[in-house]
Amino acid sequence: MTQFDRDRTQQPAVAVARRERGAPPVPEQTSAMPAFWQDEDAAASADTAVATDLARMFTDIDSIGHDPTRPDTGYHRAAWTREDLALRAWFARECDSLGLDLRVDAAGNQWAWWGTPSPQHPGVTTGSHLDSVPDGGAFDGPLGVLSALAAVRALQAAGVHPARPIGIVNASDEEGARFGIACFGSRVLTGALGPARALVRTDQDGTSLREALDSAGIDTDAYGPDPAALALTAAHVELHVEQGYWLADTHSPVAVATHIWPHGRWRTEVGGVPDHAGTTPMERRDDALLSALAFPRDAHDAALAHGARATVGHLEVLPGGANVIPGHVTLWLDARASEEEALSAVLEDLAPWDPVQESFTPATHFDAQLRARLVAILADVGLGAPEIGTAAGHDAGILQNSGTPTAMLFVRNRTGSSHTPTEFATLSDCVDGVRALTACLGGLAGQSLGPGEGGAS
Ligand code: GLV
Ligand code: MN
Ligand code: MN
Repeated sequence: MTQFDRDRTQQPAVAVARRERGAPPVPEQTSAMPAFWQDEDAAASADTAVATDLARMFTDIDSIGHDPTRPDTGYHRAAWTREDLALRAWFARECDSLGLDLRVDAAGNQWAWWGTPSPQHPGVTTGSHLDSVPDGGAFDGPLGVLSALAAVRALQAAGVHPARPIGIVNASDEEGARFGIACFGSRVLTGALGPARALVRTDQDGTSLREALDSAGIDTDAYGPDPAALALTAAHVELHVEQGYWLADTHSPVAVATHIWPHGRWRTEVGGVPDHAGTTPMERRDDALLSALAFPRDAHDAALAHGARATVGHLEVLPGGANVIPGHVTLWLDARASEEEALSAVLEDLAPWDPVQESFTPATHFDAQLRARLVAILADVGLGAPEIGTAAGHDAGILQNSGTPTAMLFVRNRTGSSHTPTEFATLSDCVDGVRALTACLGGLAGQSLGPGEGGAS
């Protein structure tokens, strides 16, 4: 039985009993351990102080957009919702407890600084995101932010005084679950997505990003790229749970990322004629959904034909009444491939559907010099790390493509799955991730980063 099986079978008896009677589970948090880990996992970890810290932080946020008694259920933390704002407030409090100086850049990303960076004395940054896909896992995003907090706490506890400032980012709307474009905050920050296009995007309820930001207290007049904030980073290292199966069956808890596949999102519209579900004879219908359903199949076939990946995971059916024939369907395509040529071939096959590109991220190769430094630092602390690529997108990729020397650390995912509640990393592996990140931050912040400060090769 794997760690994951054990965690999923050992749920609190009281919660299971109540669920069997059909009553909703009652959140009850009795220990500083989220339900997906066990108390004894802390003792089995290489550093019990870090294990306790990570477990406490995951417990703190576990009830935000999630039922903490149900490790088999997902997280709902779309950007700029009540849940996301609760997570941002939690992040601010946590940073305050570490004595960090919290700033919000013009794109709404939170940055917390230990030390005072300037363009002449830029820092080393880390972090990830706290938002999730609908029904997402516990680790995609939060692991990087919580590991960053734990790493800074470990450095402080060890009495380290870094020569260079260290910053932690909570990047806004990485998943793009609400406004349709992934890595929204980092794209706006770096200028890859302009504010005029960004602010008018709407969610499924018709709320615009401008309205969502206004209610969150973000200054929408100033919303846009923030080169001054970007200039404070000399090198960036994002830690993330691995989204894939590469490490699952190896002895390595941690890997260094080499590259990200090119990937993007496209939208296509299919029309029909809305009418009464009962009174319209079957032979007189023009049902938009029936026509639209060929699109996921065509996308699937095109991906298979070109060795790519294609997914249609989001549909909007209008007018959306159970007793109304669908009159219009919007379908979202996510397509990725190891090479841009394969991705283009998929899109060519789908040309009859007239897909409109919503976002695109070219192949990303992380900074070679920074990667080599991480590998060397990890070897020094006895954490031999393989180097692997990924088909998942990350803010780190956007930063790298905008010219900031960037690298990533991946933490082993025991199930290999992601964007689902079955995503799982053991506490012991997460502790090794924090140990790796702590070593990297300590190493990078304690030394010169070379020409141009970032050490870009
Ligand atoms: C983010 O995890 C993505 O790859 O879509
Ligand atoms: Mn992520
Ligand atoms: Mn994700």
